[in-house]
Amino acid sequence: MNDLATLQQQIFNKFSQLKNKEDLENLRIEVLGKKGSVSKLFQDLATIDKDKKKEFASQLNILKSKILEEFNKYSSKFGQDELEKKLHSETIDVTLPTPKKPQGKIHPVSQVIDELTCIFAELGFSVAEGPDIENEYNNFTALNTPPNHPARDMHDTFYLDENKQTLLRTHTSPVQIRTMLNDKPPFKIIAPGRTYRCDSDQTHTPMFHQLEGLYVDKNVTMADLRGCLDYFLKKFFEVDQIKMRFRPSHFPFTEPSAEVDIGYEIKDGKITIGQGDKWLEILGCGMVHPNVLKNAKVDSRKYQGYAFGVGIDRLAMLKYGINDLRSFFESDVRWLEHFGFNANDVPSNYRGLAR
Ligand code: DAH
Repeated sequence: MNDLATLQQQIFNKFSQLKNKEDLENLRIEVLGKKGSVSKLFQDLATIDKDKKKEFASQLNILKSKILEEFNKYSSKFGQDELEKKLHSETIDVTLPTPKKPQGKIHPVSQVIDELTCIFAELGFSVAEGPDIENEYNNFTALNTPPNHPARDMHDTFYLDENKQTLLRTHTSPVQIRTMLNDKPPFKIIAPGRTYRCDSDQTHTPMFHQLEGLYVDKNVTMADLRGCLDYFLKKFFEVDQIKMRFRPSHFPFTEPSAEVDIGYEIKDGKITIGQGDKWLEILGCGMVHPNVLKNAKVDSRKYQGYAFGVGIDRLAMLKYGINDLRSFFESDVRWLEHFGFNANDVPSNYRGLAR
C-alpha cells in the first residue's frame, strides 16, 4: 500500500516535469508499457496470496486509472500546445502588402500595337488581319507592282517556292487587298502585323512589324489623311503639337504618294518629338491608286481613299528610347524586365496609353 503511494508520488512527479508529447510517450512506456513499472505490478498479482490479492488489485486499478487520467490531461495539454504553436506559425496578416512575385512583362512591340489600336479605334478604324505567308499577287501585282517593276527589287523578298508565287509578306499592304476583296466599301481598317525582308543591321531585322491603314469612302481626301496622321502622332507621342511635313515620294500603290517627317530635337541627350529643327522620317502614305481599287473590285469612280504604312518597331524605339532594333527579338528576359510593360496597365484613351 505504502509502496503504491510512493510509486504514485514518483510517477506524478515525473508528470509534472514533462515538456512535450515525446516525454509523455516515454513516460507511458516506462509506466504502462509491457515492462513498465505499473504493468509489472499487475504481473506480480499472480504470485500474491489470495487474501491480499483482491485488495492489492483494487488499489492497483485505482492507481492505473489515476495515471491514465493524468496521462489524458497531459496528452490534451500537449496536443493543444502543439496546435496553438502551429496556428501561430501559420498566421497570415491579411493587412500586409502581398509579397512581390515574379511577373511577366508585355513586350514593347505588343504595347505599341495596343496603343495604336486604341488610338485608331477612336477614329473609327477596326483591326484587320492577313497571313504572314502571302501570294505574289496580293503582295505585289494587285498593289500595282507588276512583275519586273523596280519596286520589287527594293523589298528583298523571302520567296517560298521556285516560281516566286508564295512569299513571306514584305509589308502589311496586302491586307488592303484582302480586306477590299472580302467586303463592300466603305473600308476603315488598320492592319498591324509581322513583315519580312532579307535585311539585318542595327535598324533592320529580317522580321519586323508594320501597321497599315486604309480608309476608302466616297469623299476621302488628302486633307483627311493629314488630319488623321496629325491626330495619331500627337496621341501616340503624347504631345499637344506635332511639327509634320509631307515630302513627295513614290509608291506604286498610291498616287499621289508622300513620306511623312516629324520634327524633333535632342537636348541634353534626350530626344523631344514634335518640335525642333531636325526631321525624322516616320511613315509612307498616299491616296490609293485607282489600279489598286480596280484590282480589289472597288469602283474607283465612286470611291477613293487614303492608305499609310508605318513601322511599329521604329515607333517603339522612338517612344521608349530603345536604340538597337535587334535587341527586340533576342528574347533576353533582363531586357524585357527593363523595357517591358505591366500586364495590368492596358493602354486606354481615357486612362492614358502607357505608364
Ligand atoms: N508598304 C510600304 C512599305 O512597306 C509602306 C506604305 C507606303 C504603305 C505608302 C502604304 C502607303 O499603305 O500608302 O514600304
